[in-house]
Amino acid sequence: MPIHWFPGHMNATRQAIKDRVKAGLDVVIELLDARLPGSSSNPLLAALTTGRPSLKVLNKQDLADAAQTEAWLAHYNAQPHTRAIALDAGDKAPARALIKACRELAPQRGGLAKPMRVLICGIPNVGKSTLINTLVGRRAAKTGDEPGITKIEQKIVLEDGFYLFDTPGMLWPRISIAQSGYHLAASGAIGRNAFDEEEVALELIAVLKGRYADRLQERFGLAELGSDDAVLEAIGVKRGAKIRGGAVQMHKAAEALLGDFRAGLLGRITLETPDEMAAWRQAAADE
Ligand code: G4P
Repeated sequence: MPIHWFPGHMNATRQAIKDRVKAGLDVVIELLDARLPGSSSNPLLAALTTGRPSLKVLNKQDLADAAQTEAWLAHYNAQPHTRAIALDAGDKAPARALIKACRELAPQRGGLAKPMRVLICGIPNVGKSTLINTLVGRRAAKTGDEPGITKIEQKIVLEDGFYLFDTPGMLWPRISIAQSGYHLAASGAIGRNAFDEEEVALELIAVLKGRYADRLQERFGLAELGSDDAVLEAIGVKRGAKIRGGAVQMHKAAEALLGDFRAGLLGRITLETPDEMAAWRQAAADE
């Protein structure tokens, strides 16, 4: 699917990350969308942060399939120098667990003499502002830029001797895995003018039919599930998306489905498994 991905801040963010590595970086937090933990991960980040310990935070776990979240946590926790936790960015106690996880990843750091320097990255709309607001509460203060660091980096003091460096939502130049493009679009990470909603809705229907068929039927009152096109049309009929003459406005049907999915109204859904993601990556690399 041609996705018009606008990596506007990409070069500036990339430079800010390089500057941060030079100035001192102990742990990289990558905020992922728990509904698409592979597709929402930035393929460039590991190289940019030169193998620093990584904390994968699967956010929006309240919207994701709990069993799949466990599978993804196990997948990431099995990787070297990596820890993974799942949370809802608005919940204070789990958000604070992130501080403990960073300390475990860089036990040599902490205190004012050797402050913990943590970089937080994530695609737009993944919940980074929400998480930072939850973490900051009233205790932390934002400070100015350090000399030599690109202005777009923001330093947030979470505790004495624990600094979080925030960067703008970081995208990458090209989405090489088609399924990832669909999943990012379905999740709301990409502006709606950048893709064809009908095409994304049809892909979403294919995933839902495979793993969550009952939810699809229940949500839209569908007695049976036909082809993907027939399902989208039936959703349109149920949502009154017909024009005079009886034809269904498929883009309206697509909007209805995507809106319900994003709002969690189809229940807790995860679009991809670690094995699927590995196979897609392999296929993209073989091309
Ligand atoms: P960003 O800084 O990474 O771009 O994301 P931001 O925090 O603005 O969050 C994007 C949207 O995701 C917000 O919804 C936010 O409320 C929602 N969100 C963040 N974390 C979670 C989570 O753990 N679970 C759920 N269910 N939603 C989460 P919005 O509709 O864009 O804004 P609003 O309705 O909150 O104002």
